[in-house]
Amino acid sequence: MSNQHPKPVIGIIDWAKAPLSEAECLIEREVIGDAAEVKYFLCHSDADFTDAICSADALIVWHNTPVTATGIGRLKNCRVIIRNGVGFDSVDVKAARARGIPVCNVPDYGTEEVADHAIALALALCRQLFPLDVEAKRLRWTIPVEKNLRRLRELTFGIVGLGRIGTATALRAKALGFRVCFFDPYLSSGVDKAIGVERVSTLAELLRCADVLSVHCPLNAETHHLIAAPELALMKPSAFIVNTARGGVIAKAALFAALRNGRLAGAGLDVVEDEPLKTAEEAATPNLIVTCHAAFCSVESKQEMRRSSARIARTAVLGEALYNVVN
Ligand code: NAI
Repeated sequence: MSNQHPKPVIGIIDWAKAPLSEAECLIEREVIGDAAEVKYFLCHSDADFTDAICSADALIVWHNTPVTATGIGRLKNCRVIIRNGVGFDSVDVKAARARGIPVCNVPDYGTEEVADHAIALALALCRQLFPLDVEAKRLRWTIPVEKNLRRLRELTFGIVGLGRIGTATALRAKALGFRVCFFDPYLSSGVDKAIGVERVSTLAELLRCADVLSVHCPLNAETHHLIAAPELALMKPSAFIVNTARGGVIAKAALFAALRNGRLAGAGLDVVEDEPLKTAEEAATPNLIVTCHAAFCSVESKQEMRRSSARIARTAVLGEALYNVVN
């Protein structure tokens, strides 16, 4: 290639940790091939943007680096910013739109993992795996958690938000024998019939009937603290709550108080408001299982995410039609 037509550059701007112990971005290079040169950088914020980043033709950003209007204002040739993940709140999408730069996300790489994780948390609660594990490892053999051990077939699994992950979770719960109900005000009629689950028309109805409540809606102004003290008060004291969506959907103080005073039988959280947990007291909340916002994570999902974002970057530098544009 001549100097007048240098290869486009795709920059991965926050390659802070080698994912899956891979020091080089081999997956991206394999997907992008000859279409562009792939460079990776170690930014912590867009104040770290170098000239090479500012003149790149496409940028891929993991979840570490906020991309603000200031950083976006410095980009000279950028044809797309791709968020390597579902959420794109770390990128100022309005500023990007104002500059004519599309922002894309990768919405589907972890759908199955998150659904599996939600079911894993639900099963751990219904079968009381962790207390029984502790008991057995104390070299004792009683069953101190009998009242919380439940037969799935007698229970109602309530889903808040029947999107990609909610649907995948519903199908798994159904296969396990739960009666599955959902609340989602934005879906058209008939989705319930298509996958063979029941629809309820209010959140309150779902809260009252659920033995396991699993949250799968996005976090936004409408869903922030969608489940707080008044909503928890509607739930059965024997119910379990599972959250693999976003911490802020459930008011942490209200949930932990409900667990402490026995208003709720247990919670399995992959996400917590203002994560990570802040105090030993929070961590010692009874009947609480917490995992480290890892529901999306698997060797396979991370590889898929990187392939998908690389494919979008390739599409952009080749001037083809973009997909997963969020702005
Ligand atoms: P999606 O957009 O396919 O589904 C979300 C569903 O929630 C939609 O059907 C929507 O109509 C519904 N919804 C919106 N507002 C609602 C409300 N007020 N009440 C009830 N339902 C409502 O999204 P997807 O892919 O299923 O992901 C769901 C959420 O899972 C994401 O927004 C993200 O926050 C979270 N997530 C968590 C991960 C983790 O590792 N823990 C990884 C990936 C996503």
